[in-house]
Amino acid sequence: MKIVMISGSRNTQGQTARAAGALVDGAMNAGCAVEQIFLPALVIERCVQCEDSGWGICRREGVCILEDDFAAIVSKIREADAVVFATPSYYGDLSECMRAFLDRLRRVCAAAEGRIGIQDKPAMGVCVAGGGGGGSLTCCVSLDKVLNGCGFDVLDMVPVKRQNLKAKLNNLRLNGAWLATAAKMKPAS
Ligand SMILES: Cc1cc2nc3c(=O)[nH]c(=O)nc-3n(C[C@H](O)[C@H](O)[C@H](O)COP(=O)(O)O)c2cc1C
Repeated sequence: MKIVMISGSRNTQGQTARAAGALVDGAMNAGCAVEQIFLPALVIERCVQCEDSGWGICRREGVCILEDDFAAIVSKIREADAVVFATPSYYGDLSECMRAFLDRLRRVCAAAEGRIGIQDKPAMGVCVAGGGGGGSLTCCVSLDKVLNGCGFDVLDMVPVKRQNLKAKLNNLRLNGAWLATAAKMKPAS
């Protein structure tokens, strides 16, 4: 079983990484291989609304015309048995790179072809408010909305803040084990 963890944080050792890392540990202890992808290290352009209507080829064919790292990540999602999305909470919302990636993914998923390998795939989200601690819940709402819109089977959304990060690590490990179980029940087709 393979899980892909997609992070919207530039800090590979930061608070988002710590929270997502606990979830990943839980999945690995349950027998999953995990690949971690850090979006800030990659090139993810924002959608350019390539047709006059504001839509694009994505709506009909489920692919994006932009040539950057987006398509390779989508392929990894399709090949995985489950996906973890982890983002720092910025202004109570997704980080900019996570937003850019998911804005394009939901367009691709508007087409039936685009949903192949994504529809009903188990997914979890982790949103880390690492400053004052406000905004982890609103960030979770944003992430939950877009992942559901893409067609994922969203098993859980975990809000974390700096003040409760340590206390939540055990729960995140349990979530990882749960995600591994869900991945085993729905292996990638
Ligand atoms: C642009 C920006 C906006 C932020 N907004 C919030 C916020 O609304 N609430 C909060 O608790 N922390 C906020 N922070 C702090 C980040 O959540 C914190 O730096 C992040 O969780 C740390 O994660 P990392 O270690 O993965 O970088 C913000 C940070 C930045 C850079």
